[in-house]
Amino acid sequence: MLIKPKGTYDLYGLDAKLYEYITACIQDFMEDYHYEFIRTPIFEDRNLYHRSVGDASDMVVKETYDFIDRGGRNITLRPEGTAGVVRALIENKLYGNRNDVLKYYYLGTMYRYERPQAGRYRELTQFGVEVFNSDDVLIDAEVISLGYNLLKELGLENFTVHLNSLGDEKTRENYTAALKKYLKPHLKDLCADCQTRYEKNPLRILDCKVDKDQTIMQNLPNILDYLSAESKSKFNKLKELLTMLDVDYEVDNHLVRGLDYYDYHVWEYISDDDGLALGAGGRYNTLVEKLDGPHLPAIGFGLGLDRIMLALKKILPTSEIPQNVDAYIMCVNEEEKIYGIKLAQDLRLNHVKTEINSNNLSLKSQFKVADSLNSKFLLILNSEDLKKGLINVKDNATKEEMKIDENEIVDFLISNI
Ligand code: HAM
Repeated sequence: MLIKPKGTYDLYGLDAKLYEYITACIQDFMEDYHYEFIRTPIFEDRNLYHRSVGDASDMVVKETYDFIDRGGRNITLRPEGTAGVVRALIENKLYGNRNDVLKYYYLGTMYRYERPQAGRYRELTQFGVEVFNSDDVLIDAEVISLGYNLLKELGLENFTVHLNSLGDEKTRENYTAALKKYLKPHLKDLCADCQTRYEKNPLRILDCKVDKDQTIMQNLPNILDYLSAESKSKFNKLKELLTMLDVDYEVDNHLVRGLDYYDYHVWEYISDDDGLALGAGGRYNTLVEKLDGPHLPAIGFGLGLDRIMLALKKILPTSEIPQNVDAYIMCVNEEEKIYGIKLAQDLRLNHVKTEINSNNLSLKSQFKVADSLNSKFLLILNSEDLKKGLINVKDNATKEEMKIDENEIVDFLISNI
């Protein structure tokens, strides 16, 4: 038997319903926030990730799915969405009108060769938001609260926004120097990965999971003490705005994020139950330029839909995602079935959610199926009544039975569902 690749899963049944519920909710929500949908390819030129996410990041070094296509091109399955959206922005010159603040959202699968475990997959689905051409801290507050409010809208309560500022370039230069000075005498006590990070990407030592309990890590210099005056004033304003917008956040000065493109504000939506990040994001004011575009400040985040589904499943009784239809068409013989399939089409095209017996089920079994679908109405076809142009209808709530003229059945159901 063939089996699915490690770190992937099939989505069906109630889980698929939950996924549909989440994506429908996201689409409604993003319309109210007035963000535009964007779709970019699932695979891109490998260089895009080297130049954006970063050569020294774990994601690019250890986690990408790379292959050479039949034309000899170096291709990578996207591990995240930001780089592709930035590439699309530049390639299609979406920034044509330089006064516009461009607000995009996307939804799609990403691929990371990670060690699979609860909430960590090799094929994952992200919902993401990217906003370009505004460096106003009001946008930071809008974007962070958007993710926060969306998680609430989906029904999640137990999570907190962890927030930090990495400041501007000068801040990070000063802080990196202080951090390296502090860590130098302790270098041999750090894990092998952190010893490499010390040279290549020292900030990443801050959120090392292996070394986190060591005493040296408890007394690290605090990046917030190194913020430039401008970075500090932005961070303070952001915190005030988030409080005003009722966003539940806590400052976490060890939060640095694993992708190289961030500056200023970074944050994660952390589940209080298991500590997993439901989503994360940050500002990235220099990435568009680094990828040969104009100077366009930007900010965004990604939410992990797989993790959101796991969190929702813990709190939603399965009965809250009911299977239900408006009408179930019961038919036994060939004549009834052929009539039924036409009737089903008419109803469906008029937005009456309809199911029909498409098997050789007995009437008794069809009643059971209709019950399992919580059908509001049963349309019980029989050849004799059909000859007179009549359809037997049973209202499943009141148990009332009636015969409705076939020319009136669509209107009858529309006005009664
Ligand atoms: P990220 O932190 O790498 O950021 O991923 C965002 C979210 O995707 C995570 O918080 C998590 O919920 C989910 N996620 C990541 N890896 C996995 C996995 N292996 N299995 C399941 N879920 C996962 C980014 O991807 C950035 N592009 C976010 C961003 C957008 N920053 C600016 N704009």
